Amino acid sequence: MDSMTFVLFGATGDLAKRKIYPALFNLYLNQKLPKSFSIIGVGRHNITDSEFQSRVVDSLYTFSRHLINDKSKKEAFAKAFHYCQLDFTNTEGYKKLLELVQQNEKDQNIEENRMFYLSVAPEFFDVIAMNIRDSELGTTKGWKRLIIEKPFGHDVKSAQELNEKLSRAFEEDEIYRIDHYLGKPMVQNLEALAFANPVLQSLWNNRFIANVQITASEIVGVEERAGYYDKAGAIRDMVQNHMLQLLMMTAMHLPKRITANEIRKEKRKVLESLRPLQRDTVGVHVVRGQYGAGEINGSPVAAYKEEPGVDAFSQNDTFIAARLWIDNSFWDGVPFYICTGKRMAEKATKIVIEFKNPLKDSYPSEMEQIEPNLLTININPNEGVSLRLNSKNPINGEMEPITVDFSASKQDVPEAYELLLFDALVGDSTFFAHWNEVELSWNWVEPILEAFKENRVPLHSYSSGSMGPEAAHQLLEKDGYKWW
Ligand code: BG6
Repeated sequence: MDSMTFVLFGATGDLAKRKIYPALFNLYLNQKLPKSFSIIGVGRHNITDSEFQSRVVDSLYTFSRHLINDKSKKEAFAKAFHYCQLDFTNTEGYKKLLELVQQNEKDQNIEENRMFYLSVAPEFFDVIAMNIRDSELGTTKGWKRLIIEKPFGHDVKSAQELNEKLSRAFEEDEIYRIDHYLGKPMVQNLEALAFANPVLQSLWNNRFIANVQITASEIVGVEERAGYYDKAGAIRDMVQNHMLQLLMMTAMHLPKRITANEIRKEKRKVLESLRPLQRDTVGVHVVRGQYGAGEINGSPVAAYKEEPGVDAFSQNDTFIAARLWIDNSFWDGVPFYICTGKRMAEKATKIVIEFKNPLKDSYPSEMEQIEPNLLTININPNEGVSLRLNSKNPINGEMEPITVDFSASKQDVPEAYELLLFDALVGDSTFFAHWNEVELSWNWVEPILEAFKENRVPLHSYSSGSMGPEAAHQLLEKDGYKWW
C-alpha cells in the first residue's frame, strides 16, 4: 500500500473521537495501514501535539472495538499524529499546514499521497476544498483524495452548488462520499449474497418476490442535535441517503463485472427507474410522523416538541414510511416499502424480502395456512441472514414455519468506518456514493420536501416506544401485506 498523509479537518470533534480514530487504530492493529503514514489533525482548538496524541489514546480506550489493554500499542499508534491549529476560513493558515505536511513527508520518507477527510460542519466543505486547492496542498506528485460525509446539501439545488464547488478542487473519482450504511458489513454482503448464490439470484425478481421491506428503526431520540435535526427531519437525515442506498443495493442488477464503476452504474439505473412522486399525491405513498411522549425500556421519555432545542410548534418528521415502485422489467409490480424513525420500540436495521406463493392458486385449501417465505438480512444491531421456509412438524404432522439462521459473532465484525477508510486508502470507491446517486436521490425526495413544507401530508403523532403511527401499518394493509 502507498505511504500517505491523512489530513483530518475537525480533529477534535465528536466523529473523530468516536469513529475515525478507533477505525484507524483497528486498521493499524490489523496491519492494514501503510508502513509509513502520518496523521495530521486540523482543528480550531489550541493544543500541542502531545495533548492531541493523548486525546487520541483516550478515545481508543473508550471507543475501540478491540478491548486490548496494551498501552504501548496505543501510544505507538498515536505517535503518528500531529496537530495543526487552523481557522478553516483563514487562507493564510493553510500555508502553515502545507509546510507541516511537506516536512513530515520529507522526514519520514512518505510519498506525496494525501487523503483529506472533512469531519466538519457542512458549511466548511467548499471553503476547505477551495483552500486545499489554492494553497497547493492539493498539488501533489502522488494521489489526492477527499472524504466527506453527509449532509451533501439540503435539497437538489444546494447539493448541486456544493458539488460544483468541490469539483473545482477534486475530480469525481477523487471524492469519496461516505454513507456509513454502505460500510456496514451486511450491506456489503448484499451483492455477494446475490452473485455467490444462484439459488437467490434466480429468485431476485418480480416473478418470485411479493414485496421488499427496508427498515431502520431507532430507540434514540433527537439527542443533542436539535439544531440540525429540526431542519432536516427523517426525510433528509435517513431517507435521502441511507434508505435509498439500501434500496439501490437490494434492487440493483448484478453487473457483468464486479467493479466500482459497474456497480455504481447498476445502482444509478435503480434510481433512474424509481417512479417519481407528484407533490399533490405524496400522501398516498408517504406517511410522516413525529414522536410524542412515551416509554422506552420502562422509563418515560419526552415528546419531540419538548426536547431541548426543538421548536415547540415544530412540524418536523421523526418518522417516515413510504411505498416505492421501480419501473423496470425486473421489479414491475413489486412494492418496496421503507420505514425509519426515532424513538421506536427497537433498534433494528434490516431488509426483509417476502416471497410470493405461486402454489396458492393450484392448492387453495392446503395453502390457506401457509406463511410466506421470508429472506431477512439483519444489518444492525445483529449481523445475519435468515430464511423462513415451511415444513411439516415431524411430531404432529402440521405445517409450520422453520427458520434457517446465520448470525455473525459480534466481536469480530469490523465497523463501517474501518471498512470504508480502508477502501478509500486503497482507492476503491465501490461503497461510496457517486455524485449521480446523490443528485438522483435528491430529485426523488424533492416533491416530498415540497409537500411537507406546504403541509399537504398529515403529520401523525406516535408514542415513543411504539412501532410508529397506525397510518404506516395501513399503508401496507391496503396492499394486503404487513410489516415483518
Ligand atoms: C446518521 C443519522 O446518519 O445515522 C442519525 O444522522 C442516525 O440520525 C444514524 O441516528 C443511524 O446510524 P446507525 O448506524 O446507528 O443505524
